[in-house]
Amino acid sequence: MKILVTGGLGYIGSHTSVELMHQKYEIILVDNLCNSNEKVLENIKKITQVMPQFYKIDLTDKVALEKIFKENTLDVVIHFAGLKAVGESVKKPIKYYTNNLISTLNLLEMMQKYHVKKLVFSSSATVYGNPGNPKYTESMGRGQTVNPYGSIKSMIEQILEDLYASDNRWCIAILRYFNPIGAHESGLLGETPNGIPNNLMPYIMQVASGKRKFLNIFGNDYPTKDGTGVRDFIHVVDVAKGHVKALEKIKKEGHGIYTYNLGNGIGYSVMDLVNTFERVNGVKIPYKITARREGDLAEYFADPTKAKEELHWETEKTIEDMCRDSWNYEKNN
Ligand code: NAD
Ligand code: WQD
Repeated sequence: MKILVTGGLGYIGSHTSVELMHQKYEIILVDNLCNSNEKVLENIKKITQVMPQFYKIDLTDKVALEKIFKENTLDVVIHFAGLKAVGESVKKPIKYYTNNLISTLNLLEMMQKYHVKKLVFSSSATVYGNPGNPKYTESMGRGQTVNPYGSIKSMIEQILEDLYASDNRWCIAILRYFNPIGAHESGLLGETPNGIPNNLMPYIMQVASGKRKFLNIFGNDYPTKDGTGVRDFIHVVDVAKGHVKALEKIKKEGHGIYTYNLGNGIGYSVMDLVNTFERVNGVKIPYKITARREGDLAEYFADPTKAKEELHWETEKTIEDMCRDSWNYEKNN
């Protein structure tokens, strides 16, 4: 079985590629390296002993993309590629709509043309909007999104539903990730954001390594257990393994459209993460409490029951693993 992995050199794509290779799947990676680099390819090889085939291609370039479909007989596509900085999507909506939507439409067009009708798509908990209940269940459906990044994820889910309605030979798994953090235990793969990190764990790591003096904690007056925001942090390797399970599901079903939360089902607060990071790694994280960040919700976490029952997938890693592996990667890099 040949699998095209778009965004395969990115944070989640690279970890998923390793898990697929461990299961002996043949993969082809495509990435334009706008948020990754070719060293990731070397590191995938170091972990798996196999150098995957790689195309440096921008998915918005339909001609270049078609070359991959012409040169290879593909069975499945796992689509990670996209821009993912929520704040930037608010400032540069056209850049985000163009990149993330056109890439996906080009990909779907090529899949249709070359009769590749099995897809796993990276969605996000952000598509729930603000449903009122912090425990997000797939049956709640999509809500009102609050930024272009989230709106595009929601639109793509709709596009996939429309596509399936038009031709029920498609088999599509939509995976809604919660807050992936952590890194590969080898220390060879992880997340290295450009510039000032937006997300909590990358920021904590830059404080731990001395690149930044202190962490800003955005509010401690939320109606949560300690007043700080609560999220469902999940180890990236567990997320990666969720893709292998989703792939097995669509292989078995043959057709259909299936949506799953990939989360632990546990809400950890910002303070939980800071305290665990300090305890596990023996590194102090100085912090200041600042104002709430606009657009943040107090608390949300996944109901992962559907993925457990239908994909036979459960998280294996703890918050301690997430903190230890993140720091190990940061120290190595
Ligand atoms: P990432 O930025 O590390 O990986 C995305 C990869 O896609 C990068 O390597 C980038 O170079 C590539 N890319 C972007 N635009 C491209 C294009 N036009 N053509 C070819 N390659 C392109 O991000 P990630 O954290 O690995 O996220 C993967 C997917 O999961 C994204 O779709 C993201 O929106 C989604 N997601 C991520 C999170 C998270 O917190 N990391 C949460 C929910 C959903
Ligand atoms: C987590 C908590 C912050 C940074 C984002 C996207 C979401 C998904 C995952 C893609 C919040 C607090 C953060 C800091 C802090 N991505 N925080 N100081 O916002 O839950 O989710 O990434 O789909 O769509 O919105 O993640 O890591 O930014 O924040 O106090 O310097 O940490 O307020 O409570 P978020 P995050």
